[in-house]
Amino acid sequence: MKKILVIGSLNMDLVAHVPHLPHPGETISSTKFQQNPGGKGANQAVAAAKLGGNVAMIGRVGADDHGKVLLNNLKQAGVDVTEIQQEGTTGMAFINVSQDGENHIVLVPGANHQVSCADIDDCIQLIQESDFIIMQLEIPLDVVEYVLNIAAEHQNEVILNPAPGRQLPAKMLRMVHTLIPNETELQQLTGMSTATIEEIVEAALFLKSLGLARIIVTMGDKGSYLLNDDLQVHIPAVEVIPVDTTAAGDSYIAAFAVGLTKGMSDLESAEFATKVSAIVTTREGAQPSLPTLAEIV
Ligand code: RIB
Repeated sequence: MKKILVIGSLNMDLVAHVPHLPHPGETISSTKFQQNPGGKGANQAVAAAKLGGNVAMIGRVGADDHGKVLLNNLKQAGVDVTEIQQEGTTGMAFINVSQDGENHIVLVPGANHQVSCADIDDCIQLIQESDFIIMQLEIPLDVVEYVLNIAAEHQNEVILNPAPGRQLPAKMLRMVHTLIPNETELQQLTGMSTATIEEIVEAALFLKSLGLARIIVTMGDKGSYLLNDDLQVHIPAVEVIPVDTTAAGDSYIAAFAVGLTKGMSDLESAEFATKVSAIVTTREGAQPSLPTLAEIV
């Protein structure tokens, strides 16, 4: 089976359910508190493995209890964790989830910011053997750029989820095969307005012109927009009542990659990812919300 390698973050999510997302200066009480395994990288790795992908992960957790919980959750899902280092303090994410399922996230990077180019050098064989490499931006940017250069040399297909959103140099974007931002991240990447579908397409086409093979913009309840060399297509969302949108984007990216490894077309993979991420929004938490393949109809 084709191999997926996730290089990225692992966080313990500390989640407060709140009546509404607090305004600046406002103090509110939560109605419920949860502690869940999360982190964009780990969420994507677990999601892909639960959907039947052959997945390994490179990253760092702390030598602490949070780190143990995160590693166990990855192992249980079937992710190869051999190259996850344990040192320092595990990353954390403070998440507020409102009654309508929207969230605010504040990261405390911890061990995620200790991921280094030397870690990557230690895993060159794993990188060479991987068909798809998935990355996000919760580890140092120089490491992401280093992997992009190695992947370009070895012709691995890189799927980049540019989250948290920020500007990226064009020389980095040119080495990405598939870019999967949400509307906000697309706006941050391009500096262009992404308020309407027309503006989203314009901003995505601008990025595509740098030479990327695919761009998929995820748009929450508005679905997603796929652009490749042959297609420009809007994929509507599956209608659900969301309770927590945390990890919906992560599950979309993972499912899209799994679809490709199973020989689905770009469109089929995006439709599969749409179904997976819809289920995730109907459940609480990041990794606890990720479905197995048998749950996708
Ligand atoms: O994408 C959701 C994730 O973002 C959370 O699990 C949190 O840890 C942050 O990394």
